[in-house]
Amino acid sequence: MSTDLLAQPPLVDANPAAIGSLDELYKAFTALNMEGGWHRIKPALWREPAKNFLPFRWKYSDVKPILAAAGHLIGTDKAERRNLTMFNPAEGNIYPTVNTIVAAYQMVKPGEIARSHRHTANALRLILEGRGTYTVVNGQRVEMRPGDVLLTPNWAWHSHENVGQDECYWMDFLDVPLVHLLEPMFYEPHAEGLEKDVVDSDGGPLAFRWEDTVKRLEAVHGQDFDDAHASVQLGDPALKTIRLDMQRLDAGKPTRTCRTTANIVYAVVRGKGTTEVDGSAIGWSFGDTIAVPAWRPYRHVAVEDAVLLKVSDAPVMAAFDWLRASAR
Ligand SMILES: [Fe+2]
Repeated sequence: MSTDLLAQPPLVDANPAAIGSLDELYKAFTALNMEGGWHRIKPALWREPAKNFLPFRWKYSDVKPILAAAGHLIGTDKAERRNLTMFNPAEGNIYPTVNTIVAAYQMVKPGEIARSHRHTANALRLILEGRGTYTVVNGQRVEMRPGDVLLTPNWAWHSHENVGQDECYWMDFLDVPLVHLLEPMFYEPHAEGLEKDVVDSDGGPLAFRWEDTVKRLEAVHGQDFDDAHASVQLGDPALKTIRLDMQRLDAGKPTRTCRTTANIVYAVVRGKGTTEVDGSAIGWSFGDTIAVPAWRPYRHVAVEDAVLLKVSDAPVMAAFDWLRASAR
């Protein structure tokens, strides 16, 4: 039987229900899982980004001893990854560091192997301390050295192996909170524990080496940047959902105050200083993590020459024309 899709559908009977008061009206639509746009419990629109997440700092010197203790108590047999995620102290929050990004500290002991798995969340690592650890990404075995940044894009197999003498500490950054929000989460452990047919690699486009970053920063030092005195992007962008910038700050020279709709997590690669975020001063040194949530005015003041890794969701904001920034 064919239907004429161009024909007007018959009118639905619209005789008013027997509703004589506002109370009855509210009950009637609430029973249908509906809410009146004129009396919302919580507004649906507001003038500018709400400040739901809080500026915050995690000190590496506080975290490292705890992660070292975890090394004695939690083996890789018990944990697919030995990491500590940093949850923002916003009320009710138990996972994201800022709205779309989660950051974590991770440690792998000599002789340990973190098994291979893959997930739709994009991930990257910043290596803090320790040599002799390799990551295997889609069959490419890449050395991880301090200051390096290594990418694990959506659905790439990845495992880690420490064949050296040092405990290896690094930071992970993932877009898991964004995946939670949009719900395209898939995760798969490797059936054989580790990938076969692995080849040694310099990492190609998946690895940003510290010595290259230093050279690039020196080349642009003195040019004009908002929130740094030299800044280079890693990748373009590094991951579809995450932009990475390595930024150099000169001691004693504050950066300009700015704000952006992008959510940002900073990691301290070198140096010491303070980040002033929306009126609060957050001191930092090597290995620390600083959450700068969206639309919080901020500036940095380094007390010694410093390098920060800036991890942001700017590509997501830009993709939908939501990326805005202003001086403040
Ligand atoms: Fe992973």
